[in-house]
Amino acid sequence: MTQEIEIKIADGVQVVRFLRADKKNAFTGPMYNTMSEALDAAEKNDDVAVTLFIGSGGVFSAGNDINDFMRRAGANTSDSGKGIPTPSLDFIRRLPKVTKPMVAAVDGLAIGVGTTMLLHCDLVYATPTASLRTPFLDLGLVPEAGSSLIGQMRMGYPKAFELLVLGEAFSAERAHEAGIVNKVVPAEELEATAMKAAKRLAAKPREALMTARRLMRGSPSEIDAMIDKESAAYQTLMRSPEAKEAFTAFLEKRAPDFAKARASAKAK
Ligand code: COA
Repeated sequence: MTQEIEIKIADGVQVVRFLRADKKNAFTGPMYNTMSEALDAAEKNDDVAVTLFIGSGGVFSAGNDINDFMRRAGANTSDSGKGIPTPSLDFIRRLPKVTKPMVAAVDGLAIGVGTTMLLHCDLVYATPTASLRTPFLDLGLVPEAGSSLIGQMRMGYPKAFELLVLGEAFSAERAHEAGIVNKVVPAEELEATAMKAAKRLAAKPREALMTARRLMRGSPSEIDAMIDKESAAYQTLMRSPEAKEAFTAFLEKRAPDFAKARASAKAK
């Protein structure tokens, strides 16, 4: 349990609010653990029909905390990556298996997993200033959270490639056109709009709601298999000279020099 995630349950809706605005709501291990616990608890709690994710301070989330990436990049392990337990991967693995609907309210930046987790949500509302971005490649990494598969299922290959590989920022409007945001609403109406939709879902016959969702989303096994492949690639790439250079450059607040990082790795 961390103070940086607030969990509140009312009217059948579990609200998961990110409270680390000073760090743009970047997710740390304890934040992921708290979110995983909340999703598990919701599965067992009859008082919860829907989980609603929301940011704070005009930001949804800047994605994975890069300090954590740095620590994992330095981890001395020969594991292929498939079996390494990490709070982020534990959370990501839960997303396709959740049986109750998830709703997201996005204001401001949604970066990395801040964007890919939206692909697992059933309803996404965003403000006009929302911006979805996945700079995985610029960090020397690959798309995660099953987005390599769900991205193209949701918006087709060309748009998924632009978002996930080219790293193009999608404005709220563009994300709406691409089909990954349901509606763009003014900032002052965001929370109320998302809450109203979540409560409407929560008021539906529960068994029918969960069955309809399962029928529409299909089996999570294909997505799960893709998460296995993505995380194996992630673990290898995370220790590459280019990824280490990208993380270091971010923390040192400078532009990365990938050519220099490659050259110095070759010289060793
Ligand atoms: N991990 C760790 N810290 C982060 C972070 C992240 N993903 N994103 C932002 N922060 C921290 C910054 O280091 C800074 O900390 P400081 O005040 O101690 O220096 C603070 O949050 C504010 O961020 P800052 O960069 O000063 O704000 P900005 O408005 O200029 O830029 C972002 C905001 C989100 C565009 C920029 O911080 C960014 O690019 N973050 C990295 C996003 C990313 O690559 N995420 C991983 C995706 S896989």
